[in-house]
Amino acid sequence: MNKIISLCKQRGFIFAGSEIYGGLANSWDFGPLGVQMKKNIKDFWWKKMVEERGDMVGMDGGIILNPKVLEAAGHVEGFVDFLVEDKETHKRYRADHLLEEILGEPILGMSMEDMNKLIKEKGIKSPEGNELTEVKKFNTMFQTHIGAIEGEGSVVYLRPETAQSIFVNFKNVAQTSRKKLPFGIAQIGKAFRNEITTGNFIFRTFEFEQMEIEYFIEEKDWQEVFENWLATMKNWAKEVGIDLERVHDLEVAKEDLAHYSKRTVDLEFDFPFGRKELWGLAYRTDFDLKRHQEASGQSLEYIDPADNKNQFIPHVVEPTFGVERTMLAILDSAYTEEEVGGEIRVVMKFAKQIVPYQVAVLPLMKKEPLGGKAKEIFEKLLKNYRVEYDETGSIGKRYRRQDEIGTTFCITVDFDSVKNGTLTVRDRDTMKQDIIKIEELESYLAEKMKN
Ligand code: GAP
Repeated sequence: MNKIISLCKQRGFIFAGSEIYGGLANSWDFGPLGVQMKKNIKDFWWKKMVEERGDMVGMDGGIILNPKVLEAAGHVEGFVDFLVEDKETHKRYRADHLLEEILGEPILGMSMEDMNKLIKEKGIKSPEGNELTEVKKFNTMFQTHIGAIEGEGSVVYLRPETAQSIFVNFKNVAQTSRKKLPFGIAQIGKAFRNEITTGNFIFRTFEFEQMEIEYFIEEKDWQEVFENWLATMKNWAKEVGIDLERVHDLEVAKEDLAHYSKRTVDLEFDFPFGRKELWGLAYRTDFDLKRHQEASGQSLEYIDPADNKNQFIPHVVEPTFGVERTMLAILDSAYTEEEVGGEIRVVMKFAKQIVPYQVAVLPLMKKEPLGGKAKEIFEKLLKNYRVEYDETGSIGKRYRRQDEIGTTFCITVDFDSVKNGTLTVRDRDTMKQDIIKIEELESYLAEKMKN
């Protein structure tokens, strides 16, 4: 994990947030390579989940919602974690996580009362060895105020999941897109949670991005749809470069299901710090649409276009993906150390869809006419590829740097390029070098980049 964190910082993927002021706990900023990779992940998700499917449409809702939305969804009351505090240091812990760590076994669906009982009976102390306070509920939604006057009426929340703006727009989207069941609405956007315990780099943070789908169905179809989405999620994991051998299904126990779910499967990943949730798949029934219909007084029923008579509230299967956790699983799957000529070569074996740079153009020496020729090729490739130009340092060092950022192909411009019009193309994974004609470069790359 430390190797990945240090590579991310040194190479410009991820920096500590507000670093020049000493940082801000668990906040991270994405540098040039990180933001490109994040964009590629989101674009590839959108392409596969929305653009390449006839049963999906997208939307983009606000981060600040009318508080009634989150009240109706049960979040104002129920979006809570259990908090316990060290009486001396006032350090706060998530009670279930702390108990799991101390007892070495999972705490499944335990109530607040039972946790308090357990702490008393077993004399459980904080990791610093001090007494703990009573366990209490802690709502993890961030609160803020709109308007100039602070007060009850101005309280709003930053959304803790993107899902709710999809539910409240269900009717708008269904009517304007004229989609028939089954169909889904996808959204990519920021979500915010005032997590009690954060950490493990970008795994658990206060603000993060979600890629979510609410897939609307008839109740009778939910099991089949659920299985189909599980397969689709795993397929996407493979395509995006996540090591499937490290992905595992966790059937969430009944006692641990979220208040809206009848069945949830967490897709867990073997991160360097343990097996943890990567993504989730939930059968949310008709819970959300029903609650919003009741609370708003607006009909959220679907009218079957076949006869314009059959009216009902659709059920929902929800595949949900965290962008940062996806990125962490990809970074971890891609990180490879290989011995080459007695030295360790670090190479990020990113999938071609999401790699920050597909191509690097490297003049053999910082010298004319090589520089001019290389620049010409670089400028031409920019139109169709993500390309970097690098002329500093020895060619060996530049290859190593490109390996560390995962660049799929390195193109070297040497004296033969000027004399004979040829280039050397080096493959990141095999390190094999092909000599090709300059005019063949675009078709060579197009063939290699084909899906
Ligand atoms: N709409 C359902 C929902 O929000 P969730 O399991 O609470 O379900 C979905 O969150 C995904 O969002 C998770 O599987 C994870 O990838 C990501 N996620 C949740 N909390 C996070 C946090 N604090 N930091 C980073 N990613 C987070």
